[in-house]
Amino acid sequence: MTVVQTFKQKYGPWALITGAAWGMGAEYSRQIGAMGLNLVLVDMRGDDLRKVADEVRRGGRVEVREVVTDLSRPDFMSALRPATDGLEIGLLVSNAAHLPVGLFFEQSLEDKIRMIEVNCRAPLILVHEFGAKMLARRRGGIILMSSGSATQGVAYIASYAATKAYNLVLAESLWDELREHGVDVLGFMPGATRTTGFELSKPRLERSAVAPVNDPKPTVAEALRVLGKTPSWIPGRRNRWILTLAQRLLPRKQMIKLVSSNMRQWYGR
Ligand SMILES: NC(=O)c1ccc[n+]([C@@H]2O[C@H](COP(=O)([O-])OP(=O)(O)OC[C@H]3O[C@@H](n4cnc5c(N)ncnc54)[C@H](OP(=O)(O)O)[C@@H]3O)[C@@H](O)[C@H]2O)c1
Repeated sequence: MTVVQTFKQKYGPWALITGAAWGMGAEYSRQIGAMGLNLVLVDMRGDDLRKVADEVRRGGRVEVREVVTDLSRPDFMSALRPATDGLEIGLLVSNAAHLPVGLFFEQSLEDKIRMIEVNCRAPLILVHEFGAKMLARRRGGIILMSSGSATQGVAYIASYAATKAYNLVLAESLWDELREHGVDVLGFMPGATRTTGFELSKPRLERSAVAPVNDPKPTVAEALRVLGKTPSWIPGRRNRWILTLAQRLLPRKQMIKLVSSNMRQWYGR
């Protein structure tokens, strides 16, 4: 007889979510908390993190710990360890990202290096630390936030897209390495999603309607639904169709031009 496990049985009792103060990170916190997992929430923005943590606590079902730290710091794990030592972290959502939009040579080198630190180095360390314990327990889940921009070059987010390709390939590779050991890994690839960070980037959406803009709530729900079922996933039926079809039909050069021209319309002068 097959025993159907609940999300909490599979990935509890604790989840660790980075970039939890805003956007999809806050939404992960609400939805995972509502499923009964205790939370360790990580972000740089202490005030906003407290609001999300209090909102989840008001549900009255779970314990929530907050860690205010900058994931670009070489020693960020020393801020995380006191809050996580002794806890069984069964679910890691590596969601925080540094995502400035702009032409490559209009961004500073510091900004580009920060993207590598926050978007690549930090997820690598988190997976190494918490994934190893999941492997030893033969139980757990890891969501690495990638992006629809991860599968080809994109103007205006060149370095960012490259960091998201790192997350996608890391997730898919680990999906295969860990799947027989009870640990599920997902590379999640949203298209444009209406989050705080996205709004602050000030896209001029009226200039191009090629790429649909999704809402965080159903997007995050989709990640939690497909974890354990696939190595990677593009949320939103329309997004998935457009991207999959275009990738199959268009030469790579045309694909790069198409997604770049959408970005140029949203962010070009
Ligand atoms: N929104 C989209 O259109 C979209 C599309 C594809 C993929 N994604 C991916 O989805 C994930 C979430 O995106 P989002 O739009 O929800 O982001 P968001 O609204 O900008 O929120 C990200 C949160 O992470 C925090 N953060 C950034 N750098 C950090 C650091 N060094 N240390 C600690 N916290 C840090 C941010 O704080 P600060 O604001 O202070 O930096 C912010 O609170 C990201 O991985 C992103 O790449 C988003």
